[in-house]
Amino acid sequence: MEKTLEIVYKYSLDYLDRVDDLPVNAISGKNDLERALEYPLQDRGIDSVQVIEQLIADAEQGIVHSTSGRFFGWVMGGNVRSALAAEWLTSLWDQNAALYVSSPASAIAEEVAGKWLKELFGIPQDASFAFTTGCQMAHFTCLSAARNALLERNGWDVEKSGLFGAPKIKIFTSELLHGSALRAIRFLGLGTDNIEYLETNNDRQLSPEALCEALETNQQPAIVVLQAGDLNTGTFDDFDKLIAITHQYNAWVHIDGAFGLWAATSENFKHLLKGCENADSWATDGHKWLNVPYDSGYAFVRNVSAHYKALSIRASYLTHSDGARDQMDWTPEWSRRARGFATYAAIRELGRIGIGQIIDKSCYLCAKLIEELGKIPGIEIVSEPIINQGLVRFMPPKNHLDHPDPNSFTDFIIQENLDKGMSFLGGTEWNGIRCMRISVCNWQTNEDDISKTVQTFREILYKYYL
Ligand SMILES: Cc1ncc(COP(=O)(O)O)c(C=O)c1O
Repeated sequence: MEKTLEIVYKYSLDYLDRVDDLPVNAISGKNDLERALEYPLQDRGIDSVQVIEQLIADAEQGIVHSTSGRFFGWVMGGNVRSALAAEWLTSLWDQNAALYVSSPASAIAEEVAGKWLKELFGIPQDASFAFTTGCQMAHFTCLSAARNALLERNGWDVEKSGLFGAPKIKIFTSELLHGSALRAIRFLGLGTDNIEYLETNNDRQLSPEALCEALETNQQPAIVVLQAGDLNTGTFDDFDKLIAITHQYNAWVHIDGAFGLWAATSENFKHLLKGCENADSWATDGHKWLNVPYDSGYAFVRNVSAHYKALSIRASYLTHSDGARDQMDWTPEWSRRARGFATYAAIRELGRIGIGQIIDKSCYLCAKLIEELGKIPGIEIVSEPIINQGLVRFMPPKNHLDHPDPNSFTDFIIQENLDKGMSFLGGTEWNGIRCMRISVCNWQTNEDDISKTVQTFREILYKYYL
């Protein structure tokens, strides 16, 4: 055991030292990785040292260095130091954090971290919470509570009677609805046909007038899904107005704040969340802006009893504890890892101010990156960041025969930048046009990362514009 772990320890220190200088994207392609990793299944196992040495050698070329400061793809954070270390401890202790009795320390750590998170986000302390695998399952958790509560109000016990014959639940939202919320709607049998996408205003926020009109004519139980930071532009809905309207009609408000909820920790951005505390459920992630390792989503529900009824379970062989938290009563999983330790550690390491500083720094650097890119010939800013997300696109020079239109030229330049490996930025479609998404989420991103990224685009574009 000692030698096996020593290899990983030494490799980890070396990796952390080198990661910033490595190409940000994976070095090898699919075929090479298959060749490297695909051993025939053997009857007899091999020494653990050999396994780990070979795993490092074989997998390393396929690792995306997303913990580096120049990874601006999707919405991905890195690892703050204590969170990474706590993650190692989580594997070392290998707790089954389903029940209090199977891991008292992880139950209490989750409970404490859950309280801290509610404080950080301004969510009422008496709301329930769950540590989930990600925002996807946080949506599932929240919406399963919504389904329970809304149908119970209509005299239907969905846990017992299922959905066949139940009153239909209508979902009102905007075009910003993230696919993970849509998928939770599918998982819960609510049906995508029951989603009604309402009009947005010029800032792409859901229109209060449209919501009012829709709820006025609606005869069914309803959920309104609002956005706290959409993934292309970082748009926040007007929670103050929209939640008040929704509650007038006795409907449930769910907020997707996968990363946007973290704006609550910044004096400069918390105004974007005004009124958000009045929602019925909230879903967010730690593995984005808190910079903790993956498998860290959080769900919060105002109606504690609906949350509990939707997810709790009893079996004779389980030992439930009176007065202590059994996490499996609040999450969709049965056995589960003690994922709360990493969040607990990160919040202690950073404190409220440290978290707010990560938010402010990311937003500042995102704005700077977009501003600098906008000065390069051929780059057009499509959406200035509201927080840490923004969009640009690439305009082809007149004589560019292979990619004469902005959409294909944009994809072409995105690929050229990826091939250079200096920074990782991906594409998206927004308002019918292809754009490059910029998302700054990593605690380690600094001015130097921004300069290096801009310089690479300058070199790429100058080839076509000089
Ligand atoms: C706005 C939004 N909601 C939900 C998700 C899904 O989060 P997860 O991947 O943690 O399930 C994402 C992921 O990027 C997101 O940006």
